[in-house]
Amino acid sequence: MLNIDFAGKTLVVTGGLTGIGKGIADLFLKAGANVVIGDIACRPGIESIHDRLVQIQIDVTVSADAARLINAAVEAFGAVDFLVNNSGTSTMDYAIDIREEDWDKVMDINAKGVYLVSQAGARQMLRQGGGGRIINIASQAGKNGYRCMGNYVASKHAVLGFTKVMALELAQAQILVNAVCPGIVETDMKRRERVEGAALRGMQPEDILAEDRSQVPLGRTAEPEDVANVVLFLASPMASYMTGQAINVTGGMTMN
Ligand SMILES: NC(=O)c1ccc[n+]([C@@H]2O[C@H](COP(=O)([O-])OP(=O)(O)OC[C@H]3O[C@@H](n4cnc5c(N)ncnc54)[C@H](O)[C@@H]3O)[C@@H](O)[C@H]2O)c1
Repeated sequence: MLNIDFAGKTLVVTGGLTGIGKGIADLFLKAGANVVIGDIACRPGIESIHDRLVQIQIDVTVSADAARLINAAVEAFGAVDFLVNNSGTSTMDYAIDIREEDWDKVMDINAKGVYLVSQAGARQMLRQGGGGRIINIASQAGKNGYRCMGNYVASKHAVLGFTKVMALELAQAQILVNAVCPGIVETDMKRRERVEGAALRGMQPEDILAEDRSQVPLGRTAEPEDVANVVLFLASPMASYMTGQAINVTGGMTMN
């Protein structure tokens, strides 16, 4: 593990209550950072959990909520050094069956949410005089197609496109913008996808788990910590010459 000291630095992470986002929040707390979690599943209002952890209920699809999240971080800790856009969701259906409301929901949370919170976060970093890191949790679905995930795949391709433009436009201000593309990570979302995918394909969720494992060259699916470690690296001084990148954390499943 990298010995990184983020004392005095502040991370804002969306969707940080569970899964990959919680893994990121926990690791940054361990590294000494202040952490602000914005999640739709938080209790209403702003809650100070302890002296370095604040939680706020926000919906990333609402622009006023994006601003409230960033303002809460500035109020609590004085600045935003790192923003991790992690909130996300999925629905499963063959492309010809995707319901319009599911298309909109997934595009809104996964793509519009990244745009809104990035915009609020980048404006704050510019107000601070530049510098800072924005890290978007995309997916290998931002690079490849996967059956029954047309809306999700489209949303993650959008995230990678927006990452590149933000990286270009903010480079002069030394705000580095990168994406992480996880493979198969053991979270509530993945477990739900296995149940829904199994029903669509006439299989059992255990069969999908076995299929998932068989597709990973390293022989195991990921834990949230596998992704969090790479996010920590991208936020660290060791990644100071990287921007506009989309880093696979897939156990070798995706190599492009
Ligand atoms: N699990 C995987 O295999 C996997 C693979 C690749 C990418 N990802 C991506 O990683 C990210 C995290 O996924 P996860 O597997 O930890 O999922 P998860 O469902 O465990 O966690 C997602 C979090 O986002 C929050 N959230 C949902 N809608 C929100 C909204 N409108 N506003 C604010 N917060 C909201 C949820 O409350 C939850 O805490 C997502 O962007 C997902 O697409 C996951």
